[in-house]
Amino acid sequence: MKIDIITIFPQVLTSPFAEGIVHRACEKGLLEIGITNLREFTTDRHKTTDDLPFGGGGGMVMKPEPIFKAAHSLINNSSSQPRTILLSPQGRTLDQTLCNQLSQENHLILICGRYSGVDERVRKHLITDEISIGDYILSGGEVCAMVLVEAVVRLLPGALGNEESAQEDSFQSGLLGGPRYTRPQEFQGLPIPEILLSGDHEKVRVWRRKEALLRTLLRRPDLLERNKLTEEDQAILEKIRNGSAD
Ligand SMILES: C[S@@+](CC[C@H](N)C(=O)[O-])C[C@H]1O[C@@H](n2cnc3c(N)ncnc32)[C@H](O)[C@@H]1O
Repeated sequence: MKIDIITIFPQVLTSPFAEGIVHRACEKGLLEIGITNLREFTTDRHKTTDDLPFGGGGGMVMKPEPIFKAAHSLINNSSSQPRTILLSPQGRTLDQTLCNQLSQENHLILICGRYSGVDERVRKHLITDEISIGDYILSGGEVCAMVLVEAVVRLLPGALGNEESAQEDSFQSGLLGGPRYTRPQEFQGLPIPEILLSGDHEKVRVWRRKEALLRTLLRRPDLLERNKLTEEDQAILEKIRNGSAD
């Protein structure tokens, strides 16, 4: 997968991608990250990327010409049809379903806005998607791009080591993940649940599922309504609700 990020602050993006899973995915050849400095696509001496808003109002607006030029240079050099994504608080909210979809793509181009946002013609005539990371406002799209990249890259086959399974993550199977424990077996008088020491893999699997369902029921019941539950999940949930679960 190739991910290109268009930004006026390329240096903000270098260190987050120099470590961890994203870096490892690049090393393994699963991922290539390109950072494009928007200022290189300006034509004036001051490398201007923003201007005053027509009709007045506060805040500068990012000019359309450099953004179109930068995106087209990447699109024209692409071997596939890239998804060209504007990071924007007004877009579709990023969730695990969307991350799974994006992880299937060959090439993503992410456009980071700044100031009061980008010229509306970018939204109307350039991009294929507009994606928000949540209902709050950041000063720029760079941190939003990092969030998207990290969430998508964990889903690339081979990106995680054996010890980290994306399939067990919250949301991936429609539920919150259950509790996790590690050594020591007893910490400050607090033991781990005995079933985890039983060696009975099937019992442990069912216990984990029950804990994930219980946690989801208590914290995010909306997820249970939104996702199709298996017959086994429904039976466990029934037991939780009538108090007969172990
Ligand atoms: C200060 S914001 C502009 C907000 C804009 N005035 C609005 O009300 O929609 C500047 C840039 O940060 C990015 N941004 C801020 N919050 C975001 C969010 N929640 N999701 C995605 N991008 C965001 C976008 O690229 C945006 O163009």
